[in-house]
Amino acid sequence: MCGIVGYFGNNDAVPLLIKGLKRLEYRGYDSAGLAIMSGDSFMVNKKAGKVAELESLVSESGLTGSVGIGHTRWATHGEPSDLNAHPHTDYTGKFALIHNGIIENYAALKKLLEKKGVEFRTQTDTEVLVQLISTIYHEEDTTFQSAVTSALEKIVGTYGIIVMCSDVPNQLIAARLGSPLVLGVGEGEYFIASDASPLVEYTRNVIYLGESECLFIGDDGYEIKKLGNSESINKKVSRIDFTLEEIEKGNYPHFMLKEIYEQEHTIVDTMRGRLLLDEGTVHLGGIQDHLLRIERARHFYITACGTSWHAALIGKYILEEFAGIPVHVEYASEFRYRELIIDSQSVVIAISQSGETADTLAAIQKAKEKGCLTFGICNVVGSSISRETDCGIYTHAGPEIGVASTKAFTAQVSVLYMLALHLGRKNGFSKKDGIALTHALHNLGDRVIDVLNQSDHILTIAKETMDANNYLYLGRGTNFPVALEGALKLKEISYIHAEGYPAAEMKHGPIALIDEKLPVVFLAPHDQTYEKVLSNIQEVKARKGKVITVTDKITPELESLSDHLIEVPVSHPRTFPILATIPLQLLAYHLAVLRGCDVDMPRNLAKSVTVE
Ligand code: G6P
Repeated sequence: MCGIVGYFGNNDAVPLLIKGLKRLEYRGYDSAGLAIMSGDSFMVNKKAGKVAELESLVSESGLTGSVGIGHTRWATHGEPSDLNAHPHTDYTGKFALIHNGIIENYAALKKLLEKKGVEFRTQTDTEVLVQLISTIYHEEDTTFQSAVTSALEKIVGTYGIIVMCSDVPNQLIAARLGSPLVLGVGEGEYFIASDASPLVEYTRNVIYLGESECLFIGDDGYEIKKLGNSESINKKVSRIDFTLEEIEKGNYPHFMLKEIYEQEHTIVDTMRGRLLLDEGTVHLGGIQDHLLRIERARHFYITACGTSWHAALIGKYILEEFAGIPVHVEYASEFRYRELIIDSQSVVIAISQSGETADTLAAIQKAKEKGCLTFGICNVVGSSISRETDCGIYTHAGPEIGVASTKAFTAQVSVLYMLALHLGRKNGFSKKDGIALTHALHNLGDRVIDVLNQSDHILTIAKETMDANNYLYLGRGTNFPVALEGALKLKEISYIHAEGYPAAEMKHGPIALIDEKLPVVFLAPHDQTYEKVLSNIQEVKARKGKVITVTDKITPELESLSDHLIEVPVSHPRTFPILATIPLQLLAYHLAVLRGCDVDMPRNLAKSVTVE
């Protein structure tokens, strides 16, 4: 949520920052801006709209310089406008600041500053911070560094910031609390960004800033200190684990489509080296040191947001079924504020693609305070959640850029299958069943291709239903969360209202919506719920609803009841929820494209929600 990028070196910062902002645009895209230091002053260009609009403005203004900061915004305080876009400057015009996060005590600070005569130009919380820095700097006649750090000590809330000061043109200061920041260490040049994607083109050496850490970059290099402490911290330089190619669209029209197709490999990559095919179990290195505590846990909580929360729900079904362990699934935003019965015998699993979602991070912090063992399932290596948790399993799906999560979801579900299988094997899941499941999981790539090959067929279905204003998704058991995820995908990118429901629950409300205009997507594999789902399909058909059925085997009764059928061939019934997710992703994608929506940057959404 909001992308920030900074450059300090000998090259022209402008094209580097514009490119960096484009790579970070998935974090927020309602306005963008740059501040570039030139001599002993800086110039600011900012614009409502996408980074491309800022780019045109910048090319007209002829901005150049070798130190600069850039921001792409997802509005919290104040509407998206040229004025509210970052960077924000202070009343003397000496400071420029970009910010990701929320300053919770901004109203009180603003009042205080207004009493001192500071005039505010925007409605943003960020302007309060830059005015505060400036006020301290001038009132206390102090240095740039101490003005920034003492302002930060007065802040309640979250921030990832970069600040520049025209009195000290050869210095950049960055700091984080709750919003990610990474330093890229190049040859005589430094990059700062919200994540590593803008840096990978220039350096693979990065340092992830920790909570309350401040970074000072100047002609002599960089220094990192904890806020309120004058000692330098020596931090490990890590290597970026993905390539430039992985964060580019290649020949695909959208990142989302690329990422849907990548599932042929990503699902398998998630499980690579972890499946023990001959033993019918798995090896999960990242939780090895804590296995005993996990195996003896009284119960599990899984906490997450958005799509990751749907993966958590699938996890509940399979963990309870395979391993007989009670699992509670909680939205992280609820978990963090609710009275929960958790203690040192509880395992709290946080699922997060980005590893930066503010609510999920806070949930983990709460679980730690309560003495629980915390366990992360994250995609981004080195992310905050992966560092905050006691142990974890990376999904290894590669960078996900499309705002609507696709490959990360199937990777998360794959991890949960492996965890359920591991715990299940300790708890009565037979070796024979384990071998059958591990082999099916190992061979999922080929089955994914079978599904992807139906993209044109799904496009035809999309064409026939593209005018519908509502969609219903129904499934039972592990396919209920798949229905929820199918509905979420559609809502996110096509703005068609969609709901997911347990199929039988339809009778308690949604059935009122059914008429000849309503497409109803059924997940109907031939498992123990098949006959029941078939009855639900009959109920929809009786009310003239348009039935789209996703099944593992087309049967005459399904043919007669369905307007459209999508066959997802499985080699093991348990793999149906993973595979059945993919046609729903494709359906949402095609519908959104047909309706002219911006698939990769849907309105109002952000990929990484780093504010509450
Ligand atoms: C945002 C994204 C979703 C994502 C959710 C949780 O809402 O748009 O795609 O599922 O955040 O993100 P996380 O990174 O924690 O999985």
